[in-house]
Amino acid sequence: MTEQIRVEPVSPVIGAEVHGVELGVPMTAEVFEVLHSALMTHLVLFFRDQQLSFEQHLQFGRRFGDLHVHPAAPKDVEHPEIFVVHADDTVKFVAGELWHSDVSCDAEPPMGSILRVEQVPVTGGDTLFASMYAAYEALSDGMQRFLVELTAVHEGRQYYVGRYGGSHLRDGDYPSAEHPVVRTHPVTGRHALYVNEGFTTGFKELKKSESDALLSFLLKHCASPEFHCRFRWRSNSVAFWDNRCTQHHAIWDYYPEVRHGYRVTVQGDRPYYQSSPHP
Ligand code: SIN
Repeated sequence: MTEQIRVEPVSPVIGAEVHGVELGVPMTAEVFEVLHSALMTHLVLFFRDQQLSFEQHLQFGRRFGDLHVHPAAPKDVEHPEIFVVHADDTVKFVAGELWHSDVSCDAEPPMGSILRVEQVPVTGGDTLFASMYAAYEALSDGMQRFLVELTAVHEGRQYYVGRYGGSHLRDGDYPSAEHPVVRTHPVTGRHALYVNEGFTTGFKELKKSESDALLSFLLKHCASPEFHCRFRWRSNSVAFWDNRCTQHHAIWDYYPEVRHGYRVTVQGDRPYYQSSPHP
């Protein structure tokens, strides 16, 4: 069964296309192991031709952990864990059209997100993914030592006000959280930069002018193309990314065309920093 699965990297640092697996079929422990291990190695996995019902999509997500409910977006009553990604000629914004790690404003941000796009524009609507391991590792030793001492503030209000408004708030208010600027991945033990344009507003230990300058430097650094790959969607493509060590940016270059899909998001743990690699 697992011998049919082929994992083909799409760049040296991030992304792999996976062939020979049907995500709608209940997974054996062996298939789960292959996919989980490929995700840990490549950070985002891409699959083609995956026609999934909501139930199949939710079931696939649940194999990786409890499901996350979005803190601010409107929810389907029957399937609150399905996050609808939709663009057409009437919308004023699309989900994720700036660099971000999903819902980093939660105290326990999502571990992973599984997006299936059903309807695609003729051209455009690609998504960029960035490795935050590569972004961290490209910094000098001095900068790395400085950053591991810092705490970043992530505010849902910054991202969600003006997009979702306040009428669908999961917790009665916009979430806000403080996380280490460098986080240790709980499975791989690698260190990843954990600040993003969507949610990060500054650093607790710094003066505002210092904080603004550092944030601006880090966001520009994370946007360097050598940390990235770019995914061209087709109808029924799926991307599964690890939010603990990546960021992504959905490009809205196809207005007024329609792009439509569904995301299932897997709950994660509280980010932490540990200096020595895991055993
Ligand atoms: C998102 O941020 O989950 C949306 C990504 C996309 O639409 O490609």
